[in-house]
Amino acid sequence: MYSEKVMDHFQHPRNVGEIENASGVGTVGNAKCGDIMRMYLDINDNGIIQDCKFKTFGCGAAVATSSMATELVKGKTIQEALQVTNKAVMEALDGLPPVKVHCSLLAEEAIHAALWDYAEKHGIKIEGLVKPKSDIHEGEEEEEEEY
Ligand code: FES
Repeated sequence: MYSEKVMDHFQHPRNVGEIENASGVGTVGNAKCGDIMRMYLDINDNGIIQDCKFKTFGCGAAVATSSMATELVKGKTIQEALQVTNKAVMEALDGLPPVKVHCSLLAEEAIHAALWDYAEKHGIKIEGLVKPKSDIHEGEEEEEEEY
């Protein structure tokens, strides 16, 4: 049911932890499943994400997607990090079962929330970044239909 990459990132998650005095921290959750993800970004003066760590209290797919998301944004510019969508994370993991798609959305929103925090701290506006929801459950239109 899960790809080898998902299992690998679930069993050996990369970049777990916190960054002290992070440039941006974002926490998002999903009220439906109760899972929570926190993302820390260390962004240098040139706008490059030097480091990224995460803490996830959630399911295996949430752990795997946050792990992959940190790998994908590391070394990227802010604009490039915005391209790391949940689809990009899923592709990098060779896919997720449909019922687990929302877990990858959590990873995308966690990155956005951390970038939003960074922008607010620095009094800047990041083009293309919209204010993230703290509860991604609200945005899950596809899944709503199952109920
Ligand atoms: Fe909700 Fe995975 S079951 S994040």
